Amino acid sequence: MTNAKIYDIKPAIASNAHITQPIYQNMYQRSIAEPDVFWAEQATLFLNWQKPWHTVMDCDYSRGHIRWFEGGLLNVSENCLDRHLAERSDQVAIIWEGDDPTRDKKITYRELHQQVCQFANVLKAQGVSKGDCVCIYLPMIAEAAVVMLACTRIGSVHSIVFGGFSAEALKDRILDSNCQYVVCADIGYRGGKTTVIKANVDQAALGCPNLKSVIVIKNSDTDVAWFNGRDIWYHVAMQNASDHCPAVAMAAEDPLFILYTSGSTGKPKGVLHSTGGYLLYAAMTHKYVFDYHDGDIYWCTADIGWITGHSYMIYGPLCNGATTVLFEGVPTYPEADRFWRIIDKHQINIFYTAPTAIRALMAQGNDFVTRTNRSSLRILGSVGEPINPEAWEWYYHVVGDARCPVVDTWWQTETGGIMITPLPGAMALKPGSASLPFFGVKPEILDNQGNSLQGIAEGVLALSRSWPGQARSIYGDHQRFIDTYFKSYAGYYFTGDGVRRDEDGYYWITGRVDDVINVSGHRMGTAEIESALVLHTHVAEAAVVGYPHDIKGQGIYAFVTLNAGVQASEQLSKELVNLVRQEIGAIASPDIIQWTPALPKTRSGKIMRRILRKVAANELNGLGDTSTLADPSVVDNIIAHRVNK
Ligand code: WTA
Repeated sequence: MTNAKIYDIKPAIASNAHITQPIYQNMYQRSIAEPDVFWAEQATLFLNWQKPWHTVMDCDYSRGHIRWFEGGLLNVSENCLDRHLAERSDQVAIIWEGDDPTRDKKITYRELHQQVCQFANVLKAQGVSKGDCVCIYLPMIAEAAVVMLACTRIGSVHSIVFGGFSAEALKDRILDSNCQYVVCADIGYRGGKTTVIKANVDQAALGCPNLKSVIVIKNSDTDVAWFNGRDIWYHVAMQNASDHCPAVAMAAEDPLFILYTSGSTGKPKGVLHSTGGYLLYAAMTHKYVFDYHDGDIYWCTADIGWITGHSYMIYGPLCNGATTVLFEGVPTYPEADRFWRIIDKHQINIFYTAPTAIRALMAQGNDFVTRTNRSSLRILGSVGEPINPEAWEWYYHVVGDARCPVVDTWWQTETGGIMITPLPGAMALKPGSASLPFFGVKPEILDNQGNSLQGIAEGVLALSRSWPGQARSIYGDHQRFIDTYFKSYAGYYFTGDGVRRDEDGYYWITGRVDDVINVSGHRMGTAEIESALVLHTHVAEAAVVGYPHDIKGQGIYAFVTLNAGVQASEQLSKELVNLVRQEIGAIASPDIIQWTPALPKTRSGKIMRRILRKVAANELNGLGDTSTLADPSVVDNIIAHRVNK
């Protein structure tokens, strides 16, 4: 595509921006030419170190060996809290906005520091020590930030499990990361409904013999089952806890957190991030990508259960001394103007959300937006999936009144922070393009043979340089880390995304090239959903693919083959959906189930997903070569019974 629409840099933004066009060019060039010097400067600028590093970077992709700032010592909570106290102890660190619009609360840096120290002491009293893994399974309550930072204060490693995951998914993650401690709430609130939290932990715990304690945050008056000796109330433990807790000196490469994410094969993997590089990258990208200035009120709508919630709701903003908003609810409750009302209520300057939310709100009509003011907004951001130009234009014109640059930020759980993105004062914008690489990032477009293509090109996206925020391993399975990211194309980190580079060098992400699908900005492995479906005794085989969905980006389309003699029925369809909810969570529920007597397979028995994807997308003319199929008539049958929704 040429002649894409271009929105020029806004003088009003550029005149006050940290990074302008010449600064970007100069800094980018230096970041590539002299990475050691560049990153050492940034690490000094953004972080407080208890002891300086001796080696900036030591990387060897063939071994998945990635080290930054070795020899350096620092503490994340000290960087996010203590060092701000002298200047901003009375500044609000967190604005919490409840699901119920009448409920909100503000926590200053002093209060947050105090609560974090107290909870760190609670964790210690439970026996948690440096290097231990703590599972956090929480709704979007302000305490989530306290718990995360308390873990970092004593050097324990958190593993946050999204509150929408099922008991079974929680159990798998607790076991995989050997967590002996869980922090949860009694229940959660979302969209006027309650969500079960503690009961899921109780159920998961049945399969977790090593679990020692469950710390429960009281979020309601609901009675919950109680297991004496294992369960502890957060508020009771906090009452007696001292608010003095020294921050443990952590090595730059000590693990900071594990976060599970889906891949093309097998169970979700525990992506491991470490302390110094991650924090630097989160803070630096937060400041430059959103052009964050002191005093800005910043709101990222992500859930803490995803990487965006980690890097851009908690660690990046707090490291920069920002006021960050934590919203418990959903964009459409009580009405579809909730986001815009919150923006007016708290005078938000920087707003960061996902295309799926933008599309859903766009579908509700402009009135919900235009009846609010939004004049406080300066920068808009998008993350999680490709944003279609139509949604981009609506976001820009209707939400931002054509005043605010939209930063379309491409990155991944594994990258720790934003990798390809416009910088608001430095780049013209093209709707639908993530534009140009952040400092130190070297995108490469590879063909199937692994050749790096130059100029205008399309292929798979790989990165030839390491950057400080890069994941260090897959918890408990370093070989899988190497195999997944560094084996396909030697010398590169392989992203799993497709990409195009245009005549201006702008990057356009085209979506996943593997068996990962992106449903409402949530990354799902089709293999995981298939494994859940085949647990049903009536199911012989299942294949899951994504298909274009107006709101969710991709929907989940399942082709299911039943055992001989079993009749397909509406009831069975419901049972399968329930099974997926039980095994993974509601976010993985298939939108469409198509019964099929057989799946298209090659003679060697491999399912030809390419064909299923085309059928699901209703692209029936482009099925390609089907001659290698064991039984080409299977495809005719699948096409004849395709489900339209
Ligand atoms: C997709 C979320 C296009 C991409 C931060 C990536 C995007 C996956 C964008 C990672 C974007 C994320 N444009 N695609 N701006 N942002 N993606 O790990 O396919 O949940 O590989 O991290 O989301 O999803 P994850």
